[in-house]
Amino acid sequence: MSLVSLTEVLDRASRGGYAVGAFNCHNMEIVQSIARAAEKEKSPVIIQASQGAIKYAGLEYITSLVEEAVREVSVPVVLHLDHGTSLQQVVQCIRHGFTSVMIDGSRLTLEENIKLTAGVVRIARAVGVSVEAEIGKIGGTEDDISVKESEALLTDPEEAVRFVEETGVDALAIAIGTAHGQYRGEPELDFNRLEKINRLVPCPLVLHGSSGVPDGDLKRAVQLGIRKINIDTNIREVFVKAIREILERNPREIDPRNVLRPAREAAEKIIREKIQVFGSSGQA
Ligand code: G3H
Ligand code: 13P
Ligand code: ZN
Repeated sequence: MSLVSLTEVLDRASRGGYAVGAFNCHNMEIVQSIARAAEKEKSPVIIQASQGAIKYAGLEYITSLVEEAVREVSVPVVLHLDHGTSLQQVVQCIRHGFTSVMIDGSRLTLEENIKLTAGVVRIARAVGVSVEAEIGKIGGTEDDISVKESEALLTDPEEAVRFVEETGVDALAIAIGTAHGQYRGEPELDFNRLEKINRLVPCPLVLHGSSGVPDGDLKRAVQLGIRKINIDTNIREVFVKAIREILERNPREIDPRNVLRPAREAAEKIIREKIQVFGSSGQA
């Protein structure tokens, strides 16, 4: 199978009423665990690279690892840039073979975000690459903000309509109460807001910061129109936990393969579980 665009898998997801998992990778074992989980679930999948992953591994390694993984599987795979910072970075990723990019202008004013995103859409569309953008602010769980402040950061449905009309984006990340990283308590999702945005906005919606969101809430979000679900922290947690357990049990272990194999298996297991929750099993 070769890489496909985000639009291709999300159009099918919209018709089928399920969401596609977007899993963050930063090394060979995690790329393999994502591809193998998707293959076993017969599910389309999005493999994405964050800013941290690009700094750690480099664009060349990430692209080569994903291209090799894609050769081994029969399910559709999207290679996606997560939280892209600039038009320059988007162009670099497109040159390296990414089939989808996110441009994150959420720190900008609405007008500036529209301008930046529309420019990225113009260039990406010319070469068949999909674009995700963000409106509202999806923070980190470590950001200390009050309930009132966090409400102000959520996506405004009317602004979302204008944003999509004026930019032509293929997918829209919205802020409805999730945050990146490990939650201290349980996240509270604003389902009324999601329902309204989904009623008004024509393109597929994306949920970031989905690690730690209870399965029931994720399923409800899918019912209300979420079509791409980003998971990073949950993979890191199980990966490092498996490594820690092996080394505690066997402190004299010196073979990295014996440490990383169980970590890769643990990542594959949680990714399969998430794919089942999102409803995309058997949809490849
Ligand atoms: O977008 C959120 C990612 O989970 C951040 O990942 O630390 O690899 O940049 P990073
Ligand atoms: P989590 O790390 O909270 O799962 O968030 C992932 C994400 O949104 C990547 O863009
Ligand atoms: Zn994110």
